Amino acid sequence: MRREQYTILFTTNPGIEDIAADEIKARLRASIEEVRENHGRVIAKVREEYLDLIEELRSIYRARIVLKRGGICAEMTCLRDLAQIVNDSGVHEYLSPDSSFAIRVNRAGSHEFNSMDIARVAGDAVIEAAVRYRGFRPRVDLDYPSIIVSVDVIESDVIVSLELSGDLSWHRRGYRIYDHPAALKPTLAYAMLILSGISDKDSLLDPMCGGGTIVIEAAYMLENSRLYCLDKNPRHISGAKLNAMAALVQNRISFFVGDATKLSRYIREVDVIVSNPPYGIRLGSPRQVKRVYSEFIREAVSITNKSIVLITPDYDFVKKSLLDNGWRISHERVVAHGNLYPHILVAKP
Ligand SMILES: C[S@@+](CC[C@H](N)C(=O)[O-])C[C@H]1O[C@@H](n2cnc3c(N)ncnc32)[C@H](O)[C@@H]1O
Repeated sequence: MRREQYTILFTTNPGIEDIAADEIKARLRASIEEVRENHGRVIAKVREEYLDLIEELRSIYRARIVLKRGGICAEMTCLRDLAQIVNDSGVHEYLSPDSSFAIRVNRAGSHEFNSMDIARVAGDAVIEAAVRYRGFRPRVDLDYPSIIVSVDVIESDVIVSLELSGDLSWHRRGYRIYDHPAALKPTLAYAMLILSGISDKDSLLDPMCGGGTIVIEAAYMLENSRLYCLDKNPRHISGAKLNAMAALVQNRISFFVGDATKLSRYIREVDVIVSNPPYGIRLGSPRQVKRVYSEFIREAVSITNKSIVLITPDYDFVKKSLLDNGWRISHERVVAHGNLYPHILVAKP
């Protein structure tokens, strides 16, 4: 079944759905149908000729072709309606006698049934549709399926979709050769760069760059900017260089071992700082955390021309330090990062 236009469900980091929607709209010439804030979901209509570009998006985890949407109630007997929705989805068109499939379930809300019940009913409905409409019985293969059928049951909403990105989420970019123990998700690095308002030719510094995620994402976005990656730990700088080599951008970035609380010793000025300082607990005592943060911020404002963007769970203290140094907060938002909800702060002189 060939169609001109596909409805695609994109998943992203909760808290940056608007940034993902802007990227999807701009890069894929898509029309946005729905942005589910704080749920990490964007639904858009994408024309067939743009589907190949989905892999290049920097702000999304996964993409799925939506086959069918519907609604069900919460009781066990309502699973009959789920079976009907899967049966009507046209999923059989994507199967062949040699192919296999697996069901992946995302469930949220209170229902009498659980995810295993959904998977069982949806799996049977896929087989039944293939037997009825195509005359063969497809194989189930949970490890290496030819296609992955996703069934989302979020409260009473049902979405049946096909995974476009296999099982490898796009935020695990291929360049992560060196696995920094507190690495930032590349999707969040991208979002922070967008929020910084950086333009090509502006210089960028990440003064606590770890494995280099922010500067590597910047190298993908910006062609002419000078990019600096500084960390006090030489092991992380060696790792960041390896990651940059894997990303084929090593010639675009200058790497330094140095102390962010003494920034002005290494760099006289930069246009933009984007950074993911260590979360408090890794720096030792609360007093030590406050000292590092305030010395770093005092140095950062003294060398930065345009904006400073930080992701931190210690946002009250960081905001106060920025304000005490005469800067203002132009934007603030909460994002999900692991099990934490740090804030992204954008500060301007
Ligand atoms: C949360 S990690 C950054 C991770 C990075 N965004 C990534 O994706 O790999 C924080 C980094 O700050 C570095 N750091 C801590 N104190 C520092 C200081 N005073 N100067 C420079 N780097 C520092 C740590 O070595 C660590 O690599």
